[in-house]
Amino acid sequence: MTILSFTFFSLFILTVGSDYKVVGLTTTTRASGERYVQMRAGAPFKIALFADLHYGEATSTDRGPLKDVNSTRVMNTVLDDETLDFLIYLGYVITANNLPIANASLYWDQAISPTKSRGILFASVFGNHDDEPFEWPKAWFPAPGIPLLICPAVNSTHSGEEACSFRGTKRIELMKHEIEHNVPSYSSNGPKALWPSISNYVIQVSSSDDPKSPVVYLYFLDSGGGSYPQVISNAQAEWFQNKSEEINPNSSVPELIFWHIPSQASNKVAPQFGIHKPCVGSINKENVSSQAAELVIMELLVKRPSVEAIFVGHNHGLDWCCPYEKLWLCFARHTGYGGYGDWPREARIIEITQQPFSFRTWIRMEDI
Ligand SMILES: *[C@@H]1O[C@H](CO)[C@@H](O)[C@H](O)[C@H]1NC(C)=O
Ligand SMILES: *[C@@H]1O[C@H](CO)[C@@H](O)[C@H](O)[C@H]1NC(C)=O
Ligand SMILES: *[C@@H]1O[C@H](CO)[C@@H](O)[C@H](O)[C@H]1NC(C)=O
Ligand SMILES: *[C@@H]1O[C@H](CO)[C@@H](O)[C@H](O)[C@H]1NC(C)=O
Ligand SMILES: *[C@@H]1O[C@H](CO)[C@@H](O)[C@H](O)[C@H]1NC(C)=O
Ligand SMILES: *[C@@H]1O[C@H](CO)[C@@H](O)[C@H](O)[C@H]1NC(C)=O
Repeated sequence: MTILSFTFFSLFILTVGSDYKVVGLTTTTRASGERYVQMRAGAPFKIALFADLHYGEATSTDRGPLKDVNSTRVMNTVLDDETLDFLIYLGYVITANNLPIANASLYWDQAISPTKSRGILFASVFGNHDDEPFEWPKAWFPAPGIPLLICPAVNSTHSGEEACSFRGTKRIELMKHEIEHNVPSYSSNGPKALWPSISNYVIQVSSSDDPKSPVVYLYFLDSGGGSYPQVISNAQAEWFQNKSEEINPNSSVPELIFWHIPSQASNKVAPQFGIHKPCVGSINKENVSSQAAELVIMELLVKRPSVEAIFVGHNHGLDWCCPYEKLWLCFARHTGYGGYGDWPREARIIEITQQPFSFRTWIRMEDI
């Protein structure tokens, strides 16, 4: 790592300021026990997004595991070079349908290990392949179409046919494992009423002066995919409405939203041919692949004065931020080596300042 790494920063910085006042400490009446992360005194709060890591992709080929080695290197580079306060795994952490093992948590562990080993606090949301069952690679079928029994090495716990038909590791199992085995994990299973949609929760970022005083709320929503449709349900929207009104009743604290699959609203504002104002960004190489349906969540977010921006992954060839109504819609681009596209890998950085609240966001390119 040299000072030259500066040249790898994207110049396309989005700065958003506002005149939000931070809620005073004396009137905090929250009974909901939201978890908080406290800002360091005199420093902005810096978050990195790792999107679309695709661990465990193409495990039946020689190149597959090498992709994971590369993805780990990208993460190590970003984690070594940035002083981060928080890390967000923005979905599609693993390509579970390529995993010929019974427990995809093993690959999930690999993906979070660089962050965990540095003791950086993190949270994760699910993407569209994280909980899929194993699919037999076509290469395992000979010309006549009769499956060859090429299965992973059998051991005492997994044997025979069973070892060739692995069901997906459910979202709830992946999340339980992450939470139980990783002290720095701030992820949550979300309310049971919303299951099988799991990663629905909120984290409070608190002022450096007072852990009870929120500077911003980070909301995580599960945009589906894998074992159920790619959509944010009306029940999730209602949960967001209930929760945000409960903990931030007069919208005095700004809110940032994180999920994996873009809203259909991103299609409406996507720049044509390149990127031009009011959008900012460096690559616009594909069409938006949005959620299967647009239910009420976007209406709620647009109406709520405190919601500032939505950050998504999913489209590897997009890293723009565009305004939609009064929100910013931002893509994270592609952090992992698995998955389609050869655009240089990166992490999106978000830097939050308090009093007055503002955030800046840019893309940190891989430096390898
Ligand atoms: C907003 O709500 C908080 C409690 O969450 C309260 O402390 C604050 O005084 C309220 N502000 C206004 C302008 O009503
Ligand atoms: C790993 O990264 C190097 C450097 O970017 C690249 O040349 C190589 O093709 C990558 N390997 C795989 C399997 O993606
Ligand atoms: C047996 O295989 C499973 C699935 O691949 C793995 O999780 C487990 O660690 C293996 N056990 C031994 C003793 O190798
Ligand atoms: C996967 O393994 C972890 C421990 O390594 C365990 O907590 C979890 O229950 C396992 N899940 C399944 C589906 O075997
Ligand atoms: C939202 O709040 C209403 C009223 O308290 C409650 O009936 C409903 O179950 C809540 N919905 C969710 C999804 O939490
Ligand atoms: C995006 O969609 C349009 C219309 O469907 C199509 O003509 C175009 O080729 C697509 N662009 C890319 C980069 O796939």
